[in-house]
Amino acid sequence: MSESMERRRIVLGVTGSIAAYKAAELARILVSRGYEVRVVMTQSGMEFITPTTMQAVTGQPVVTDFWDKSEASGIGHIQLADWAEALVIAPATADVIAKLAMGFAESPLLAVALATKAPILVAPAMNMNMYSNPKTQENIEELRKRGVRFVDPEEGELACGWNGTGRLADPEEIFFHVRRILSPQDFAGKRVLITTGPTREALDPVRFITNRSSGKMGVALAREAFRRGAEVTLVHGPVHIKVPGPVKREEVTSTAEMRKAVMDHMESKSEMPDVVIMAAAVADYRPAEVADLKMKKSDKTPTIKLVENPDILHELGKSKVDEKKPILVGFAVETGEIEDLLNEARTKLKNKNADMIVGNFANEAFDLDTNRVWLVDKHGRQEEVATTYKSRVANKILDTILTL
Ligand code: CTP
Repeated sequence: MSESMERRRIVLGVTGSIAAYKAAELARILVSRGYEVRVVMTQSGMEFITPTTMQAVTGQPVVTDFWDKSEASGIGHIQLADWAEALVIAPATADVIAKLAMGFAESPLLAVALATKAPILVAPAMNMNMYSNPKTQENIEELRKRGVRFVDPEEGELACGWNGTGRLADPEEIFFHVRRILSPQDFAGKRVLITTGPTREALDPVRFITNRSSGKMGVALAREAFRRGAEVTLVHGPVHIKVPGPVKREEVTSTAEMRKAVMDHMESKSEMPDVVIMAAAVADYRPAEVADLKMKKSDKTPTIKLVENPDILHELGKSKVDEKKPILVGFAVETGEIEDLLNEARTKLKNKNADMIVGNFANEAFDLDTNRVWLVDKHGRQEEVATTYKSRVANKILDTILTL
């Protein structure tokens, strides 16, 4: 199930932290992606950012106290609680977290939190010692037990001068979590291992053989699987990628390293991924020898001897003992005709004992934000996904995985 395009309704709670200015950025992101945002601020929140700013960003009146007779409170806290499809509190202070845990209703924000049936997402921001204080952690645990979700604060330099965990998560990161709490969790409880990007095979300390893969398809798969509730690990080659914090990242360089990273996940039966998606453009060959020192120009043109790399997907397919686990998905890249691509996909499906092969063309896939693919699965199904954003292609792939 892909994300619906209708306007989603978010109540954004802003409390008294130096990070409150980032709430404006979060509101901007939400509004720009088509969400309707109503802001509720605490008194101390207003010490750090003005309601005028939040009103300007959201285009909606801001609720600041119970007794305000202006238009803003025309929508009372109970109505707001019912209207919300999600309540996001960012930044959330230690104080508001404690009050949420206790069930207080002394401010409009706390009253909305108490009255709403919508999912609640809390992004804490505070001094590191306040965050790690056992009482704060107990409050967080208590709220988690009640189904409240958290976007963990980041580590770094804090406004108070300390260095540690307590900095509000990046607004883009919070946004990923907002999408997640609004999405059907059809991948909940599933472990998904995704590889992406190129691998790099060294020739000498300064040169290597690689390919044009940008890793974007695998990143889209990781983000969307996370949004749909999966526990995601992304093994990626040397590319710059941005994925939500809870997605575990393992960076590798060579094919041998990628193979090891993937195989390490296969060791324990109980921790084995439910799905492995090999979206990486793995180098099929590597130089037979890697020079210790930089190769020098000489009169003779050098010849590079290549040897074959291990085929990770093939190895996974061969060692697969259980029909159902892990589901193996591979990619096939072609530069020829559609018929060649489909033949190639079917051959790989069989040879590598995969459950599905995603076929695509190099010129439509590499380094682009869009792709056109063919999904060829072990049940003989063959479906074209017309050119669209990689996030949508990713959701199509994930939809199909659920049917395998
Ligand atoms: N793959 C792998 N290990 C390799 C090579 C490829 O796991 N050493 C995986 C890729 O991640 C991809 C699929 O196998 O999922 C692609 O297979 P490959 O045989 O390399 O196909 P192409 O590169 O598309 O085509 P060709 O057969 O021309 O190499």
